[in-house]
Amino acid sequence: QKVVLAYSGGLDTSVILKWLEVNYGYEVIAVCVDVGQGEDLIAVKKKALATGASKAYVVDVTEEFITDYIYPTLKAGAVYEDDYLLGTSFARPLIAKKLVEVAEKEGAVAIAHGATGKGNDQVRFEATIKALNPHLKIIAPWRIWDLKSREDCVDFAVEHNIPIPVTKKDIYSRDRNIWHLSHEGGNLENPWNEHDNSIYMMGVAPEKAPDTPTFVEIEFEKGVPVAVDGVKYSPIDMLHKLNQIGGVNGVGIIDLIENRLVGMKSRGIYETPGGTILFQAHKALEKLTLDRATMSFKKTVSEKYAQLVYDGLWFTPLKDALDQFVDSTQQVVTGKVKLKLYKGTCAAVASASPYSLYNEEFVTFGEDHVYNQKDAEGFINLFALPITIRSLMHSQMQQE
Ligand code: ARG
Ligand code: SIN
Repeated sequence: QKVVLAYSGGLDTSVILKWLEVNYGYEVIAVCVDVGQGEDLIAVKKKALATGASKAYVVDVTEEFITDYIYPTLKAGAVYEDDYLLGTSFARPLIAKKLVEVAEKEGAVAIAHGATGKGNDQVRFEATIKALNPHLKIIAPWRIWDLKSREDCVDFAVEHNIPIPVTKKDIYSRDRNIWHLSHEGGNLENPWNEHDNSIYMMGVAPEKAPDTPTFVEIEFEKGVPVAVDGVKYSPIDMLHKLNQIGGVNGVGIIDLIENRLVGMKSRGIYETPGGTILFQAHKALEKLTLDRATMSFKKTVSEKYAQLVYDGLWFTPLKDALDQFVDSTQQVVTGKVKLKLYKGTCAAVASASPYSLYNEEFVTFGEDHVYNQKDAEGFINLFALPITIRSLMHSQMQQE
């Protein structure tokens, strides 16, 4: 029988590969999903085969990741617990979807993954697999085997001739894709420890950024970014470009404590340079183009959307329905925003849109010919009528 394994080439998934063979006698098909993690995946494929996989796939989904996962979340303005741009969260359903596709193509009976039993990722992988194919068995070795630590894994690897990475093991658990990079574990586990600036991999520390600001202009069509500084880019090229510009300016680094779905709090450092630029630009354009009531309701939707994405509930009816609401709001989110990047900050400084609701003639402090200030009196009388009535009642009570 065949099992499809989400394979990264690291020690853990290499050990899992062998363990599936030794423990269950499975034929293992390794699948490495490319979401822009920027690794040598041909080498990863070779390693899978050398470790005993009967077949190894490298599936490049980087563009689909951007257009079908990142952009919907950007349009929704979804940010988890006010800070986290969901970089790992929305990659998981896509990876799981590809695992299911390979499993179906290969006639595999099960899917295995290397997420631990303590985290969010297991939920995201498995909720997606269940949504797309409820007949596939799921194997999560970290929840069942008796290997408890890296040392146990190394012993297992030595025993089974699995090549162990020669580089010294990083103390952090990292997850990287074209949108972001996360660092968890190690000395970050004590929230009183300040994180070390030298851990950054997508950019520099804000204090090491240039002393002069960088300006960048992003153009959107219906909520989707299409051009940078007036030049159209493909989704992948655009993110690379923005990661570079954001990275050198120390933009998009956050250090936060978050609530995991499984109950405990965890601490992570996230680098999202290009993503932060896009979120700020998109938000600024919405301020120009969305009306007050829609903006206010969309905030509620954003929060719900972020929670669904964080919790791995990508393939659900509620998520689809929220996408439809969001897309309806994005019809007018077309235009451009100029941002100023400076030592870790990223602020919108100018915006323009053919659908702008900003009307200088109405808002001006100078003379205008469209607004009758006398109208405000009647408006305030009615708007404040409940306040007035209540106040009358109180003053009457005091007299009695
Ligand atoms: N805490 C973040 C999240 O739940 C990042 C998880 C990182 N995953 C990893 N396997 N290192 O989305
Ligand atoms: C893991 O537990 O495998 C990583 C952390 C997480 O999923 O939250």
